[in-house]
Amino acid sequence: MTDVDQDLTPEQQVEAARKAFEQEFERFARFTGSSANLGALNLEEALAEQRGLAELRTRHLGKKSPLASSKKLIGRVEPEKRAAFGQLVQAAEQGLVNSLEQAELVLKNHVESARTARESIDVTLPGRLPRLGHRHPITLLRERIEDIFVALGYAIEDGREIETDFYNFAALNIPANHPARGEQDTFYTTDGFALRSQTSTVQIHAMQRRGVPVRMIAPGRVFRRDTPDPTHNPMFYQVEGLCVDRGITMAHLKGTVGEFLRRMFGPDTVTRFRPSYFPFTEPSAEFDFSCFKCKGSGCRICKNSGWIELGGSGMVHPNVLRTVGVDPQEFSGFAFGLGIDRMAGLMYELDDIRLLFENDTRFLEQFS
Ligand code: FA5
Repeated sequence: MTDVDQDLTPEQQVEAARKAFEQEFERFARFTGSSANLGALNLEEALAEQRGLAELRTRHLGKKSPLASSKKLIGRVEPEKRAAFGQLVQAAEQGLVNSLEQAELVLKNHVESARTARESIDVTLPGRLPRLGHRHPITLLRERIEDIFVALGYAIEDGREIETDFYNFAALNIPANHPARGEQDTFYTTDGFALRSQTSTVQIHAMQRRGVPVRMIAPGRVFRRDTPDPTHNPMFYQVEGLCVDRGITMAHLKGTVGEFLRRMFGPDTVTRFRPSYFPFTEPSAEFDFSCFKCKGSGCRICKNSGWIELGGSGMVHPNVLRTVGVDPQEFSGFAFGLGIDRMAGLMYELDDIRLLFENDTRFLEQFS
């Protein structure tokens, strides 16, 4: 566009530049005048037209445009024609600018409204619901257990997962040579702390912190070097229970565990205690309850025995009471502990409690 026909007079050159512009501008003419016709021009199309228009402006009004070349001729036009020629160039230039500005304004407004329309939110559209999570089956069960004991007047205690030898063993009357202290049973940190292998550790903390009388349960995670199989995990949940007061007997233990299991599995549930041994209770007993599925007649869940084993219990050993400064002549108490994972396994009829920690949402979603 920079080449100017040298045979033309300066006036003819201006006219030629004007005509060339008008020819090219024709396709933008629909964006000028009061009845600018944008049709169904979308945002992308309007932006493309804007770019085309900007290029047109550069070509016809830029430094290298024919009109700019014509301007340079002003000095060479004879003095008496110079003023008229100057006006001619200016008028031509103004004509181009007017056309361009009109179209540019119309397009700019159109782009703005197309953008606003695209970015605006339709508040009448139905919202998208975020996917809600839900409680883990172990949490659901833990909360049910907590509710029952809170209703029986028990406080809920939290405990530490990493313990010193004192809380994990010594205070629980577990002697120095007891196999539970071995590295094959307990996880140790490199500093010699133990990952608690049972929630019974909380008995000691609770009595030190609250003194006696005390009534509390402590749900929480425990760790054992057990090889994973359908009924074992190296990390699992237990609930500990402790009640210490004046005159507490085995009858209170049996009554409390029995009431808990009736509230959990129904009023017909029968509980039985079998003599057992734990270093921190004397006497000790394991407790079973009548199968919630077959009511004692025998089924797959109770392995045809009619009974389901649930946990350990007993009367708090006098040595444990002495360790926390409680006089066993004045106070006595009972304690019990049960595994939540196996209980969940039975209640939800899981073939394998390892499913509880595989975090497969297809499995977990069934408990929402
Ligand atoms: C105890 O841990 C005692 N602290 C219970 C106790 C408390 C007795 C207070 C007396 C007084 P035991 O080692 O039996 O007991 O474990 C209790 C329960 O934990 C078991 O009945 C079982 O349900 C669960 N359990 C034990 N090992 C595992 C494991 N590897 N995976 C899942 N659950 C387990």
